[in-house]
Amino acid sequence: MKELEERIQADGRVLGADILKVDSFLNHQIDPALMQRMGQEFADLFADQTITKVVTVEASGIAPAVMAGLALNVPVVFARKSKSRILSDEAFAADVYSYTKQTTNQIRIDKRFLAATDQVLLIDDFLANGQALLGMKDIVDQAGATIVGAGIVIEKSFQPGRDNANQAGLTRIESLAKIAAFEDGQVVFDQA
Ligand code: G4P
Ligand code: NA
Ligand code: NA
Repeated sequence: MKELEERIQADGRVLGADILKVDSFLNHQIDPALMQRMGQEFADLFADQTITKVVTVEASGIAPAVMAGLALNVPVVFARKSKSRILSDEAFAADVYSYTKQTTNQIRIDKRFLAATDQVLLIDDFLANGQALLGMKDIVDQAGATIVGAGIVIEKSFQPGRDNANQAGLTRIESLAKIAAFEDGQVVFDQA
């Protein structure tokens, strides 16, 4: 998505070897109009699919997921993160290890909000190592629901997230911006 690439070039900041800060429009301050256009883009990319629900993880997945749900006219469910690993009968849960933060969170979704009949689009802000996607897939699998694919705002293609997701059977991933590398603090996008 050209608009997103331009926004990343204008407002993104590269930190260290592999982190892109986009807290002026995505991860802290949010640009609602851009979010809405991204939500529409996700809806267009998956227009060939029947989707009954959008699933994401709090916090930064929520904004793009809500806009995708708005464009698709379906409910949006966000998995809640918890440090506690205690299991509950009322929720589907999965452990998600964060390489970036070197912590494990449990993510959970109340069983009332996922049914075996659901056709689910997963949404997240970043695809890095793929652990969040794998955790969401685990939960949707527990519900017996179907995943139609995953929509990602920013994929770092030089990290193993897509491969890890593919290996787990998550084969359809549509990313609005794909970063091939950071070179001298500059963002290099994958050629489309
Ligand atoms: P993974 O889910 O792909 O395995 O990602 P990883 O463990 O590497 O990243 C953990 C957290 O760091 C995630 O946010 C992820 O979105 C975020 N992240 C990964 N790479 C980048 C990056 O280059 N820039 C930014 N800004 N974030 C990155 P989270 O812990 O789920 O936090 P939240 O923002 O949703 O609250
Ligand atoms: Na994040
Ligand atoms: Na995230």
